[in-house]
This record gives sequence, C-alpha cells and structure tokens, in this order.
Amino acid sequence: MKFCFVFLLVFFSFLGFAQTNFTSQQGKDLYDNYCQTCHGEDMVNPGTVSYDLRKFPKDGKARFIDSVSNGKNGMPSWKSAIALEDMERIWLYVLTQGK
Ligand code: HEC
Repeated sequence: MKFCFVFLLVFFSFLGFAQTNFTSQQGKDLYDNYCQTCHGEDMVNPGTVSYDLRKFPKDGKARFIDSVSNGKNGMPSWKSAIALEDMERIWLYVLTQGK
C-alpha cells in the first residue's frame, strides 16, 4: 500500500513535468517577479520601449537565453539573479504567449 502511494506520487509528479503546464506556471511566477515591471502583466505591453514578448520567435530559445542572461540595451543582465533552469521555465511561459 505504501509502495503504491509512493509510486503514484512519482508518477504524477513526472506527468506534471511532462505536461509543461506545471513549469510554465512556475515560469509565470518568475516572470511576475522579475520581468513584469517592464514587459507588462501577462506579457501585454505597448511594445514600444520594452520588447513585446508575445512576438518573440518561438524557435529563438538560444537568443532568449542569451539576451536574458547578458542583457540587451535597456534590459539588465539576469545571469546573477536567475538560474538557467528558471530561465528555461520563463521560456516555457513565453511560449504560451500569456494565454
Ligand atoms: C528594466 C526593465 C526590464 C526588465 C525588468 C526586463 N526587461 Fe526584457 N527588455 C527590456 C527592454 C528595454 C528590452 C528591449 C531591448 C532592446 O532590444 O533594445 C527588453 C528585451 C527583452 C527581450 C528581447 C531580447 C532580444 O533578443 O531581442 C527578451 C527576450 C526579454 N527582454 C526578456 C526578459 C525577461 C525574461 C525578463 C525577466 C527575467 C526581462 N526581460 C526583464 C527591459 C526589461
């Protein structure tokens, strides 16, 4: 019985990861903390000064990680504040385009 419970727990937490919903929600939380002030609630912003992240190319993950790590013009570098795996979570959130 105990084994069964542990198995189910592992199984469902694995499912949670596989579904990406789980991590894009974590990405949203991180986004709300670090990015929202400039990029807007739910990624909605005028797209004038800060980049409209809903338009970020979906195949641009490497560019995303690079720009976020090292900063770009008006955007600060996040390397020392945000772990790489958390940037990956934010990337999953960006892929949802806030929907
Ligand atoms: C202090 C305001 C500010 C904050 C906070 C901020 N950004 Fe930005 N971001 C900008 C500005 C301004 C630009 C436009 C830079 C340019 O291209 O001139 C930008 C551009 C970007 C781009 C496009 C880079 C490219 O390759 O064109 C990405 C991706 C991005 N931000 C992601 C993020 C993420 C993720 C966070 C949170 C970890 C974040 N930003 C937090 C101001 C900010």
